[in-house]
Amino acid sequence: MRIHCKIVVVAICLGVFLLLYFFGGNAADEPPLGEVEKDKHFPSSSGLGKIVSENVAKLSRREPQKQVRPNRKEPKISDRGGNVSAKLRQKSVLGRWGSKVTRAEDTMHLAVVACGNRLDETLAMVKSALLFSVKKIKFHIFAEQDLTGQFEKGLSQWPVPLSSKFQYTLYPITFSVGNADEWKRLFKPCAAQRLFLPVILKDVDSLLYVDTDVLFLRPMDDIWEFLRAFNGTQLAAMAPEHEIPKIGWYSRFARHPFYGVTGVNSGVMLMNLTRIRSTLFKNSMIASGLSWKDLLHPLYQKYKNHITWGDQDLLNIIFHYNPECLYIFPCQWNYRPDHCMYGSNCKGAEEEGVSILHGNRGVYHDDKQPAFKVVYDAIHDYPFGENMFQSLFYPLQTKFLDTVNTLCGRIPQVFLKQIEKTMKAVFEQKVVRHVRPPQRQRR
Ligand SMILES: *[C@@H]1O[C@H](CO)[C@@H](O)[C@H](O)[C@H]1NC(C)=O
Ligand SMILES: *[C@@H]1O[C@H](CO)[C@@H](O)[C@H](O)[C@H]1NC(C)=O
Ligand SMILES: *[C@@H]1O[C@H](CO)[C@@H](O)[C@H](O)[C@H]1NC(C)=O
Repeated sequence: MRIHCKIVVVAICLGVFLLLYFFGGNAADEPPLGEVEKDKHFPSSSGLGKIVSENVAKLSRREPQKQVRPNRKEPKISDRGGNVSAKLRQKSVLGRWGSKVTRAEDTMHLAVVACGNRLDETLAMVKSALLFSVKKIKFHIFAEQDLTGQFEKGLSQWPVPLSSKFQYTLYPITFSVGNADEWKRLFKPCAAQRLFLPVILKDVDSLLYVDTDVLFLRPMDDIWEFLRAFNGTQLAAMAPEHEIPKIGWYSRFARHPFYGVTGVNSGVMLMNLTRIRSTLFKNSMIASGLSWKDLLHPLYQKYKNHITWGDQDLLNIIFHYNPECLYIFPCQWNYRPDHCMYGSNCKGAEEEGVSILHGNRGVYHDDKQPAFKVVYDAIHDYPFGENMFQSLFYPLQTKFLDTVNTLCGRIPQVFLKQIEKTMKAVFEQKVVRHVRPPQRQRR
């Protein structure tokens, strides 16, 4: 019958239409792949800190297996992060979000050498790195034997959103070449250890070394980016020791070669260890050049009676003969009392604020430069889990007012601008998360 045929055709058309509608509709609800990628990686370029990392942690569904512990411990080196093959297995368990988030190149490496009474200071540095950074961080902590227990205790007490963002390894102080006691006496106890990082950390490609008295006022991710700015010959990055040759130490007093006009400061040093290990360094002793490992001891023997600041002087000598190997980053990435105690001389910090604060000369612990101490105290005393804007930035801003009659506190913007930017980013991100429409949150 013709009418029957018509009904069948209409029914089929309706069916096809409905099928198309449902499949098409579902596909439209699902964000396109590109959008998912962008959303997931959104935090990585902007410094949104803890809140963002919580989001990423949730996306990656890592909570049930947040800590990878190795089954066996080596007697001296305690490795909380587990070894590479263990980590690889862990990754495969995490599924599609996890595998992206924990990619090896998404981990930054930070090294510090702590001796004597530097425990609290070092923990404050680690805290500042974790509070603001986005990517995961692997800490390589070189410490005197009697400090290792205290480090383990200190680092194990941090709450989950932070503790799931880092791993650490504790190493004893070791010197691979020459007389260990002699190296230890050079400058402060065990400061020379940093010279040996390329030799000891054989499996690490790139590393940021910082002194214990360094505080991050913005994500470590941002200084890590300088690694990508290296040209073909650059393998390390440091800031100048001074901005003004007339009052710089090296330019006035050094009795040995040094880099550039004012020398470089080694308190914040970014290193591509792979390149350092594979380069032959020009020097004043052997014309064909020497590898890093073979250079250190003869260099020390040759200059030990002429150097004042220990291993930093050796680094200056090395880069004097190999200037094409060094990338110079501006002073706001290694901001010291020298930049303000004779009047403000770090242009970059005046413009965009301090990115990394370096309280050398012990200024976090005495009253000589209250501007530095106030920042240290604010980060040191910040209670984990509290709103960072209310419990860190606001008290810091208030206390900073008491320092405006000192040379370094005279321009509050220098100290506060960058950290305020970081705090705002964290704060805004939190608000954005709360007002997200429920449909998006379901993802
Ligand atoms: C890493 O773990 C794997 C499997 O657990 C083990 O076979 C290997 O020896 C470990 N490597 C190191 C350096 O501990
Ligand atoms: C370090 O240098 C090596 C060799 O040039 C390069 O393969 C590697 O990607 C560099 N690392 C970073 C983080 O840029
Ligand atoms: C890299 O930059 C340094 C410093 O500007 C320069 O001396 C060196 O020649 C550059 N190397 C290359 C391969 O361009």
